[in-house]
Amino acid sequence: MTAIIIDGKAIAEQVILKVKDRVETLKQSGITPGLTVVLVGDDPASQTYVGSKEKTSKRLGMDSTVLTRPSTVTGQELLELIENLNNDESVHGILIQLPLPGHIDENKVLQAIHPDKDVDGFHPLNVGKLLLNQHGFIPCTPFGVIQLLDYAAIPIEGKHAVIVGRSNIVGKPMGQLLLNRHATVTYTHSRTEDLASYTKQADILIVATGQPLMITAEHVKPGAAVIDVGIHRNSDGRLSGDVDFHSVKSVAGAITPVPGGVGPMTIAMLMENTCLSAERMAQ
Ligand code: GUN
Repeated sequence: MTAIIIDGKAIAEQVILKVKDRVETLKQSGITPGLTVVLVGDDPASQTYVGSKEKTSKRLGMDSTVLTRPSTVTGQELLELIENLNNDESVHGILIQLPLPGHIDENKVLQAIHPDKDVDGFHPLNVGKLLLNQHGFIPCTPFGVIQLLDYAAIPIEGKHAVIVGRSNIVGKPMGQLLLNRHATVTYTHSRTEDLASYTKQADILIVATGQPLMITAEHVKPGAAVIDVGIHRNSDGRLSGDVDFHSVKSVAGAITPVPGGVGPMTIAMLMENTCLSAERMAQ
């Protein structure tokens, strides 16, 4: 078997075109969705991600602002900055690019964002709403994965979804979203014994471990949908994921590539969340 390759770039483009229409409708009633990204320090990967977010939001006709602060910024200074953005009516979405420098209390900073502007979906109130299956903001990467599965017409209800990785940003919300869609969900992680015995049961296998190429054909049930959330740059400069694409694609039924799988969807869903925030505030 050779897997269907799920084209995240093309699906993200479809999502973005729909958001663009909604942005135009908002603009006709005098509202321009505004996204402010706060970038602390000079981590090259973070700079690249923030650059992509800025470029896409501008392409959609949104107001895009990037506020950069040196890695020596204090937690108090960040809290004051967030307070100003919370009170600024032209700002519909606030995103603090992670990771923050070690001396800053990340939880405190994320909790300072007004939940109605928390387009990353990291505020405890939005985390709670996801758990209760209520309308808040859904974290962009797992939200994007659900969209990928839907666009690729991969059934979720009643299926066994196995998540590898339990981060607050991806693994945990991913499992909850799949549960809300009536999947049977198993969480696995770095301390799971005999990982393959679980992953081999998955109809939908979501891999978000941060470990390059750790999932191989031996971990995958024939015909499964495999979603690779990882992205790593090899020593030769090439990008790869947490999944060994070349071995797994001959076993899986569908698979996301890296690059061009989950990555473009994360940005598309950030645009969706920012637009949604502006629509809610307009009501
Ligand atoms: N760093 C890596 N992924 C993310 C994300 O989804 N949101 C933010 N704010 N920072 C990140």
